[in-house]
Amino acid sequence: MNSISRRLLTYLFCGLTVAGILAGSATYHKAREEIDELFDYQLAQVAHAFSRHESMAPLPSSGINYEEEAELAVQVWENGSLSSATPPGRALPPQREGLKTVYWGGRHWRVFVLRTDARTIQVSQPIKARREISVIFALRSIVPLLVTFPFLALFTWLCVGKGLHPLTRVAEEISRRSPTALEPIPADDLPAEVLPLVNRLNLLLGRVAHTIEAQRRFVADAAHELRTPLAAVGLQQRVLERSGSDAERSEALVRLKGGIDRATRLVGQLLALARIEPEAPPRFSPVALDTLTTEIVAERARIAAEKGVDLGMTACEAVTVTGEEEALQAMVGNLVDNAVRHTPPGGTIDVAVRHGEKRAVIEVVDSGPGIPPAERERVFDRFYRRGKDFSGSGLGLAIVKSAVERHNGTITLGEGNDGTGLRATVVIPLHDDLI
Ligand SMILES: Nc1ncnc2c1ncn2[C@@H]1O[C@H](COP(=O)(O)OP(=O)(O)OP(=O)(O)O)[C@@H](O)[C@H]1O
Ligand SMILES: [Mg+2]
Repeated sequence: MNSISRRLLTYLFCGLTVAGILAGSATYHKAREEIDELFDYQLAQVAHAFSRHESMAPLPSSGINYEEEAELAVQVWENGSLSSATPPGRALPPQREGLKTVYWGGRHWRVFVLRTDARTIQVSQPIKARREISVIFALRSIVPLLVTFPFLALFTWLCVGKGLHPLTRVAEEISRRSPTALEPIPADDLPAEVLPLVNRLNLLLGRVAHTIEAQRRFVADAAHELRTPLAAVGLQQRVLERSGSDAERSEALVRLKGGIDRATRLVGQLLALARIEPEAPPRFSPVALDTLTTEIVAERARIAAEKGVDLGMTACEAVTVTGEEEALQAMVGNLVDNAVRHTPPGGTIDVAVRHGEKRAVIEVVDSGPGIPPAERERVFDRFYRRGKDFSGSGLGLAIVKSAVERHNGTITLGEGNDGTGLRATVVIPLHDDLI
């Protein structure tokens, strides 16, 4: 499992171990160096003591049981001949004055030679023995470090646990919640590192609550809207049952059909809107806007002609966007449907598709009554219908807006040609690879 505390502990323990090894080896080497210096000093001291005619005093003991061989050997020459040697068996040849390391008899020796007027004093010691003692001392010097290491590790472990406690607290707080509890997580006393996470989470919770509320309102509105055409259908059905004449019956049938058409249209628009919802997963692919628009205009041509409206395309430049075909169809379809519905007989609807600078532009211009500037924002609201216009469901322009936003585009409503009618302009950015 990917755990912050495990990761922190690993890094800290690795750091501690490396620091411990470095500090330990530095202490060890320094201790050995100092012990060596001490031994050299001891050689010189002994030599000087003998130069002052002192007798062979027992050498200072370090308290360690090292071999007898590690002891200092002292040789004294008077007037060129060896006058005394302690211990007697060790007859190192005379060396030059000063401190040096020599190789003799199969091993290394540390030797100090002091010459006075009358005598030459030579104090020697086997290097191996010195080394053994210095190693023991140096190792002893790092023992405190080794002892503190487990305590340090335990302390680190406790600190990491304590430091990560606020995260555990937030996790517990979230896990205790019911799925409907969307109020913010309390952020008091949280450390600066956890606060951004909780703040983001609270923002997300706020957005989720808002979305759920919007969905709830939408379902309520949709149910309310559906009730009207269904009530009309029910009423006409009863009229049909009770109707005495054929004329009455055929009139009720026309109204019944109208109610069913409105309910069907509403359900279709609701479905279209649900598919373009921002939460729906995107299914983008290259879409040729010119072909798509031409097809939609051709489909509506018959209804427009029946109404006496001149529907046609004034420009049709080849342009391909990366988008959702279904959403783009709903977008152009609703704009053309609105224009056809609102343009009076004898009017015109001009549709144009243009390839602009890194963008596609679709324009639908009609010669109908238009929409006053004050209402050009509100008409995009769901179920919003202008004045007494109850012919539609009020979802068309909401669908157009959702589709435009899904493609990072913009839509603006303005005046048509010659200051009358409506001009709807959609701009959709193009992706470089598809230009
Ligand atoms: N081209 C237009 N000319 C004049 N008014 C328009 C035009 N397009 C839309 N409107 C007005 O804007 C309002 C909202 O339009 P929208 O397309 O959202 O809903 P609708 O057409 O009533 O219903 P739907 O399209 O869902 O069947 C409509 O009530 C209508 O009055
Ligand atoms: Mg409409």
